[in-house]
Amino acid sequence: MNWPKHLKARIRLKEPLKKHTTFKIGGPAEFFIEPDDASALKLLLNTLKRDKIPFLLIGSGSNILANDKGVNAAVLRLGSPYFRRLCFKGIFAYAGAGATLNRVSNEAKRRGLSGAEFLAGIPGTIGGALAMNAGIPGYGIGDIADKVTVMDYNGKIKTLRKKEIKFAYRGSSLQGRIILGARLKLAKGSKKEIRDKIRGYIGHRRLTQDSGHYSAGCVFKNPQGNSAGRLIDLCGLKGKRIGGAEVSLKHANFIVNTGDARAKDVFALMESIKRGVKNKSGIILEPEIKIWK
Ligand code: EPU
Repeated sequence: MNWPKHLKARIRLKEPLKKHTTFKIGGPAEFFIEPDDASALKLLLNTLKRDKIPFLLIGSGSNILANDKGVNAAVLRLGSPYFRRLCFKGIFAYAGAGATLNRVSNEAKRRGLSGAEFLAGIPGTIGGALAMNAGIPGYGIGDIADKVTVMDYNGKIKTLRKKEIKFAYRGSSLQGRIILGARLKLAKGSKKEIRDKIRGYIGHRRLTQDSGHYSAGCVFKNPQGNSAGRLIDLCGLKGKRIGGAEVSLKHANFIVNTGDARAKDVFALMESIKRGVKNKSGIILEPEIKIWK
């Protein structure tokens, strides 16, 4: 592979994806690339296009199940300081795609800005969260995203206003473009109330979710008006195990890696869960996690 000499990027070859996913699962990526900034990203996209190399985007790897054989593609991560930037002006937060949700939430709290509390404890980045409208039931990051700057696959940059973007439950019209950063609209609030809200969200997670094991969070989307976790639980599937993958004993919509899980174990367990829920309730569960086959 002939990379342009002036390409400012960190390039790793045959990089194990298990190092970059919260599941700690996944074989090697042919290339794992972190461009320094937007112009390096543009040059990188042109180079990949020239050499017909497909690419995939990864944020904090918290919603990805990568297969055991790895991916014959370039995996791009916007993790350089440029993409992790975060600053505030008045009630607005300007966050690069690689800034983590926890940092955004914490920095907003420090400044007495309310609106980003629900992001606390979600293991993700601004880019990944916007693409899939991450959040909590009834509320997603799309609700506070005011403007989003994206790059198309030819390297053209555009800033979209809120009304130009469609956000849905765990999805958005931003998929198919590379999110570079966003302006989030917050509101002045009481520091104590913000802190208490954050504590509430984190407390609920600690109580109900499995943070003691490697996982990718909720595996399936909640069907309309229902909870995937409850449906799976009602099938008595908590603790069901295939290879090293197990349905969490704490939250049935989490599959945990008990130590040596392979992607194929997780796929098999997901199929078994889907069958169980379909048989019992007639509901077909849809994956929330992104599967890299
Ligand atoms: N429930 C059970 N058994 C379980 C799990 C849940 O009966 O094993 C019941 C609970 O008792 C509750 C209901 O199901 O009555 C909902 O449970 P929970 O409050 O845990 O919320 P959820 O709908 O399962 C959603 C998001 C989570 C987010 C929490 C925040 C989805 C798929 N899940 O979970 O997001 O953290 O709300 O409250 O939208 C993620 O996206 O990765 C994720 C974890």
